[in-house]
Amino acid sequence: MTRALVVQVKNIKTAMANYYIGLMSGTSMDGVDGVVLDEGCQKIITSIYVPYPTPLKTRLQQLSQSGKSTLEHLAQVDIEVAQLFSKTANQLIKQAELSKKDICAIGSHGQTIYHQGGVYSMQIGHGALIAEQAGVATVADFRLQDVAAGGQGAPLTPLYHQHILGEKEGVIINLGGIANITIVKNNKVSGFDTGPANTLLDAWIKQEKNLDYDKCGVWAQSGVISETLLNILLEDAYFQAPAPKSTGPEYFNLGWLGQRLPADYQAQDIARTLLELSAVSISQHIPAGVSVYLCGGGVHNLLLVERLKTLNPQNTITTTSDLGIDPDFVEAAAFAFFASQTLQDKPSNLPLVTGACGARILGAIYKR
Ligand SMILES: Nc1ncnc2c1ncn2[C@@H]1O[C@H](COP(=O)(O)OP(=O)(O)O)[C@@H](O)[C@H]1O
Ligand SMILES: [Mg+2]
Repeated sequence: MTRALVVQVKNIKTAMANYYIGLMSGTSMDGVDGVVLDEGCQKIITSIYVPYPTPLKTRLQQLSQSGKSTLEHLAQVDIEVAQLFSKTANQLIKQAELSKKDICAIGSHGQTIYHQGGVYSMQIGHGALIAEQAGVATVADFRLQDVAAGGQGAPLTPLYHQHILGEKEGVIINLGGIANITIVKNNKVSGFDTGPANTLLDAWIKQEKNLDYDKCGVWAQSGVISETLLNILLEDAYFQAPAPKSTGPEYFNLGWLGQRLPADYQAQDIARTLLELSAVSISQHIPAGVSVYLCGGGVHNLLLVERLKTLNPQNTITTTSDLGIDPDFVEAAAFAFFASQTLQDKPSNLPLVTGACGARILGAIYKR
């Protein structure tokens, strides 16, 4: 009798979908980060990184530069990105030794190709195709509802950052293409995009050396900071503007830099100055004495991390590994968490962060 009961309970457990998948590609447009999270969205079961094939990355970059795309081009890339995201989801299910029925939902951020906080935000890699090709309900288009409610549509991760901090106070900084900061202090959560983390550096090394990024910050390390240029760059109104605020490569790009460059320069000195711009513009928002946890690809830029540590001697600066979450997969995990929120009819935006007029359940659900 007892034995039969145990077997029955086990069967019920395996019949229930317990896991969430998160898929994310950020402003760096480097590729898809994917995770499988447990039901409580506390633990990453498995993760994967699938870089964009170069031709797709080029087409994505063309799409996000205004005036260079047609609707046909948009449709093709939307499908291609969705296919890559679906493949990533299927690979994750295999890697975790799960089946589709074990997955409650996929939370897919998609790829932002246009973001103007408070006005419009567009992610491609459409959820309907992911739901069909992965065979799992997919939540997508997370940002639009917040924008429609008067918000920036970004950053959304502060709610997840708060979730992984648990009862702790702390600061989480995501060093993606753009840097965003979450500050949890005195029972209050604040957060916003501070400006560029890697996006200007990536664009600069692409133009000067045809590389995707400055591995470990070695090239920037070989240059010297131009204090004059650094001060000119820091004068941009974005850095002093009050929150809520969000930004992207639509604003911080080579055109923005070109308007401020001196006539004569050494390319590595510009790289070093851009890295300092990221470090300084982030550091001015870090409150003294609070533990800081870094995440995002920028944690691999040793010079950027070293500068953040030097500029903030009163903070302990580590990575989100100290909170049990791999720093390369925090953003992907956030979208798995947001999918679970949406399925439970719970909001994922923080109105004080995004400026929306209220908390909103985010995303469109494509069912299977
Ligand atoms: N080994 C490394 N050295 C220096 N920078 C790195 C390294 N690995 C990744 N990065 C940086 O991180 C970026 C990708 O970070 P990611 O968190 O995926 O950003 P996003 O969310 O914008 O896609 C790359 O474009 C690059 O600038
Ligand atoms: Mg990325």
